[in-house]
Amino acid sequence: MTLLELIEAQAARLHEAGVSFGHGTTNAFDEAAWLVMWKLGIPLEALDEHASDEVPAAAADEAQALVQERIVSRKPAAYLTGEAWLQGVPFYVDERSIVPRSFIAELIADATIDAWLSDETTRVLDLCTGNGSLAVLAAMAWPEVSVDAIDLSTDALAVARINVDRHALAARIRLLQGDGLAPADGAYDLILCNPPYVNSASMGVLPLEYRAEPELALAGGEDGMDFIRQLLARAPDHLTEHGVLVLEIGNERAFFEAAFPRLEAAWLETSAGEDQVLLLTRSALMALVAAR
Ligand SMILES: C[S@@+](CC[C@H](N)C(=O)[O-])C[C@H]1O[C@@H](n2cnc3c(N)ncnc32)[C@H](O)[C@@H]1O
Repeated sequence: MTLLELIEAQAARLHEAGVSFGHGTTNAFDEAAWLVMWKLGIPLEALDEHASDEVPAAAADEAQALVQERIVSRKPAAYLTGEAWLQGVPFYVDERSIVPRSFIAELIADATIDAWLSDETTRVLDLCTGNGSLAVLAAMAWPEVSVDAIDLSTDALAVARINVDRHALAARIRLLQGDGLAPADGAYDLILCNPPYVNSASMGVLPLEYRAEPELALAGGEDGMDFIRQLLARAPDHLTEHGVLVLEIGNERAFFEAAFPRLEAAWLETSAGEDQVLLLTRSALMALVAAR
């Protein structure tokens, strides 16, 4: 059997089993390619080059067994391989933290956020850092800045530590444990935040793959806005005069606008569309706080 035939056969099994995607891939073929090629030790980008290679029977059996584990356990592929990529950068991941997939990563990589930064940008905060991926991408994108990365979960921070060390960024990224902005130290030029925002009704019907992730990383209360309400009330105190907050809210725009009807937001376009990530200036946040 060739590599391509093996991947196609495993994709058919994933499709047949009705597994859910969304943790780094969006379809059965890509998910099968990830699992099979990881097991065979072939880089994903080398698929075209190796598509016609014959796969030894024993190696094919091992790849099929991994796909079987994916089907039976319903764990995201990244938890089985211990690795996820964001913008081409590899990150260690395990079940102590969510599988990284934030669309804010795109906005760092394509320089969208740079329009709100200046020569005076020196301090960035990654609030709700999880496995530390956005903190690492921010430190890579803006070599002059220092990054603080906060999470409530000591488990998630242990995973973030592995990634900060893996990318040799310990001198520029500080990991801080605590609730919301409580551990924040002074004012930041930029706050990135991909918080827990899933509303209660959606939490109740999440596919098993998402239930394999820490609930603390997903659940945002009745309307998904519990964490965000606290954050928007306190953010002005932790932003410099021209500082901005870049906030991810997934599919919760309707709940967000119902909770903050008069807030002036700039919606930022990502591959997921124009209503998953927004940017708030300090002055917009101050107007919100003043109106309460
Ligand atoms: C959606 S995950 C985002 C993780 C990471 N930034 C990413 O994009 O992959 C949300 C994170 O918020 C953390 N979290 C939940 N409640 C928190 C709180 N009150 N204060 C700080 N972090 C919190 C969770 O532990 C989780 O790591």
